[in-house]
Amino acid sequence: MSEDHNAESVACFDKHAQRYAENYFDLRNYDRFYQALLERLPSGPVRLLDLACGAGNVAAFVRQARTDAQILCVDQSAAMLAAAQQRLPGIATEQADCRDLSAISAGFDAAAFCFGLSYFNDEDARQVLAELARLLRVDGSLLLSTISGDPVDSGPQLSSSGDRVHMFYRQPETIAAWLNEAGFSVLRLDRIASPANASQKTVDVVILARRNSVPAD
Ligand SMILES: C[S@@+](CC[C@H](N)C(=O)[O-])C[C@H]1O[C@@H](n2cnc3c(N)ncnc32)[C@H](O)[C@@H]1O
Repeated sequence: MSEDHNAESVACFDKHAQRYAENYFDLRNYDRFYQALLERLPSGPVRLLDLACGAGNVAAFVRQARTDAQILCVDQSAAMLAAAQQRLPGIATEQADCRDLSAISAGFDAAAFCFGLSYFNDEDARQVLAELARLLRVDGSLLLSTISGDPVDSGPQLSSSGDRVHMFYRQPETIAAWLNEAGFSVLRLDRIASPANASQKTVDVVILARRNSVPAD
């Protein structure tokens, strides 16, 4: 069986969850995109999934504006979920692998998948997008952000603490095409510079998409 690079990355996030939360939880760089997702939420009771939630940045933004929202934070790292619970007392969490979300009931009005895609190889990345399409209701909204780059630069990277994370880079057009394949329509796609305190300087891609009524062939 081939090595699961993703498991190694999750172990690194688990080990450094508190530091990650301290560095990124208060970052305001993505608020305008979180706001765009918020504005697409229908009035009345809503369900939102924060997938690969980390310390729960999207969940926090949505919760302060929509106190009625039913939010589920999902991550494979128990320490990240603990960091999310510490910052968002009472938030619902579930430890699960993004590639298999069969334990989670479908029908979400919206989902966020922020900065998770680059820890998956192409096959697994497409699997995660298919899982998101399955969990969102028709016309539901998806906010996806990710580091972009040239696929040839993909590979292991050593963090300052010496831990290894395997990064998979891809171009925005590839991600948009995969979203279409999975049953989404891309509503807008933005390219922005990575935050000043990011471990590497990259171009981030932020996509707002809508779940189609008819699954793509
Ligand atoms: C860069 S952090 C992003 C956290 C948060 N979404 C944000 O925008 O700040 C990536 C997160 O993806 C999670 N992750 C990576 N692989 C995963 C998997 N297979 N299943 C669930 N979570 C995963 C990590 O544990 C980590 O919390």
